[in-house]
Amino acid sequence: LDITVVGVPLDFGQSRRGVDMGPSAIRYAGAIKRLEAIGHTLKDEGDIQVSAIERSHREDTNLKNLEEVVSATTELAEKVAAIIEKGEFPLVLGGDHSIAIGTIAGLASKYKNLGVIWYDAHADMNTAETSPSGNIHGMPLAVTMGLGHERLVNIYKDGQKVKPENIVIIGARSVDPGERKLIKEKGVKVFSMHEIDRDGMTVVMNEAIAYLQSKDLDGVHLSLDLDGLDPIYTPGVGTPVQGGISYRESHLAMEMLEDAGIITSAEFVEVNPILDEKNKTGEVAVELMGSLFGEKLL
Ligand code: ARG
Ligand code: MN
Ligand code: MN
Ligand code: MN
Repeated sequence: LDITVVGVPLDFGQSRRGVDMGPSAIRYAGAIKRLEAIGHTLKDEGDIQVSAIERSHREDTNLKNLEEVVSATTELAEKVAAIIEKGEFPLVLGGDHSIAIGTIAGLASKYKNLGVIWYDAHADMNTAETSPSGNIHGMPLAVTMGLGHERLVNIYKDGQKVKPENIVIIGARSVDPGERKLIKEKGVKVFSMHEIDRDGMTVVMNEAIAYLQSKDLDGVHLSLDLDGLDPIYTPGVGTPVQGGISYRESHLAMEMLEDAGIITSAEFVEVNPILDEKNKTGEVAVELMGSLFGEKLL
């Protein structure tokens, strides 16, 4: 593959500083070399510009740092659209999960029937009305379905970017009441920790892949929040939730996605080196990339 890496040092989608250093931590853990060793051609476009100073807060919204998130995700959307225009595979490094608003908006310029795999402890399907925190990183999946603040919903191109029935959430174990309601209303497919515990990751991934393959998609985006894994493996995240996906299960999931050959873009988010233990979380991100992009033991 021709993989083009873009970093998004954004930490304005939540309130713990440090996740803006995620792209550096992932690069430092050897992402580029690791994927080149598999035989891919890598191009690193560096980082999107993110304003370092918090601007005055808007009075008309409870969304935190809306302006900063809007400007960074708009720039990211343009970048991602340009990458796919050239026929390259976009690999986005976060930054908090609000960046997915920009990644997916850019992807929607090409993919008219895009699928999304949301590997996460959370559903990230809050809106301004349902959010318990006002943190935009808890909202990107709602935004891609066309729900939420109009500034976010209309980034790059107006309205819905992904159909709710084209979304699969894997690893959920912390879902807010408003999110639960939306999941049911919109028919979003969720494989929570319950299904992973009960059926095992092999069954879950086979079902998730078959589900997406039945949708006649023109692309599938993997949005991987490192908090999807259990915090014993990925402690460097801002919103850790106990009882998560294991390191081995995550490798298996990535390998099964690679076998299925369905993934057309990916992002790895929420790596926060300030909260981490010696870049353990950045390293796990890179190891999972290895499996996703076809690293083989033998
Ligand atoms: N549901 C919570 C909220 O809306 C937590 C979201 C965490 N999201 C994340 N991308 N880590 O604030
Ligand atoms: Mn910062
Ligand atoms: Mn999460
Ligand atoms: Mn998330």
